[in-house]
Amino acid sequence: MIYSQIVGTGRYLPERIMTNADLEKIVDTTDEWIRTRTGIEQRHVAEDDQKTSDLCVEAAKVAMEEAGVTVEDIDLIVVGTTSPDLIFPNIATIIQHKMGIPACAAFSIEAACTGFVYALSTADKFIRAGDTKCALVIGAEIITKLIDWGDRSTCVLFGDGAGAVILKPSEEQGIVSTHLGADGQYKDLLYYPVGVSNNLAAAGVGDSRIIMSGNDVFKVAVKTLSSVAKEALDANNLSLDDVDWIIPHQANLRILQAMAKRLKVSMDKVIQTVQIHGNTSAASVPMALDVGIRDGRIKRGQTLLLVAFGGGFTWGSVLLRY
Ligand code: ACO
Repeated sequence: MIYSQIVGTGRYLPERIMTNADLEKIVDTTDEWIRTRTGIEQRHVAEDDQKTSDLCVEAAKVAMEEAGVTVEDIDLIVVGTTSPDLIFPNIATIIQHKMGIPACAAFSIEAACTGFVYALSTADKFIRAGDTKCALVIGAEIITKLIDWGDRSTCVLFGDGAGAVILKPSEEQGIVSTHLGADGQYKDLLYYPVGVSNNLAAAGVGDSRIIMSGNDVFKVAVKTLSSVAKEALDANNLSLDDVDWIIPHQANLRILQAMAKRLKVSMDKVIQTVQIHGNTSAASVPMALDVGIRDGRIKRGQTLLLVAFGGGFTWGSVLLRY
């Protein structure tokens, strides 16, 4: 039996940090409001000339170095993002070209904040099918370029970044299971109203804003993150006692606390980065994974449960032995 195993991780955050105090200067908000409602203290914001692929390349370099692989080894690139450089060609091909990765399958997956979990699940299937020997899987966003900095209800929430993993085949158990889901009936609760076939000419991206029904998203996020966690555990006859770390999508600290309460698990078991990264959409899970690994909390052999939820709504989990 072939499993896929994470053999290296990396993250990259743009240098520029925007604190809540910085936001107080541009919009009618306070550090106290943002901290108590979201837990967020700061976020990283890309420069005008930075592209999402630039962030991906930096994160990928770190992951590849840790995995001890070169560009010649990579034979699949999958990127979860909703903020690609261009409509086409897809961002994975841009990363491939920038890094000098030889010809291989390279594509992106658009599943909002669940993008990385979708990408990892997809790459896992390529490896288990025997088609891929070394996959570069990335979750990345420059979501701040979609933000209306005059809309206090959304601009305080988001940040930019990229997280990457290298996945290789292994005879030992790595990724144990993946579960993906979506329900398009919730589109109106969280969306961006411009696309190629929708308002592109009439309303340029600069004139639009993220449309979000915060309270509704909050409730569904808590319920869904908890249920996808349970789904993964039930499918493997495991309980949360068997899991060393939960690595959830980092939307809001209160969402993570409510999820932990529902699951009856201590927040000590939940990797948290939302305080310093904000909500980085598809980048949040791989960056949180990398933070936990690099600060020594996540160790080889431990059982990890990745859970994500995002616009669509989309959701998913990856249960793995690290
Ligand atoms: N600063 C100060 N006041 C604000 C701000 C702000 N930045 N934003 C909103 N307010 C005000 C509102 O105008 C409202 O004022 P009013 O009562 O006079 O009308 C008041 O604060 C309360 O607003 P609510 O929306 O009820 O505040 P809530 O406690 O629900 O928190 C929040 C809002 C943080 C958006 C919360 O609903 C949330 O986190 N929802 C989840 C949404 C999310 O995470 N989206 C990210 C993308 S989805 C994803 O990643 C899965």
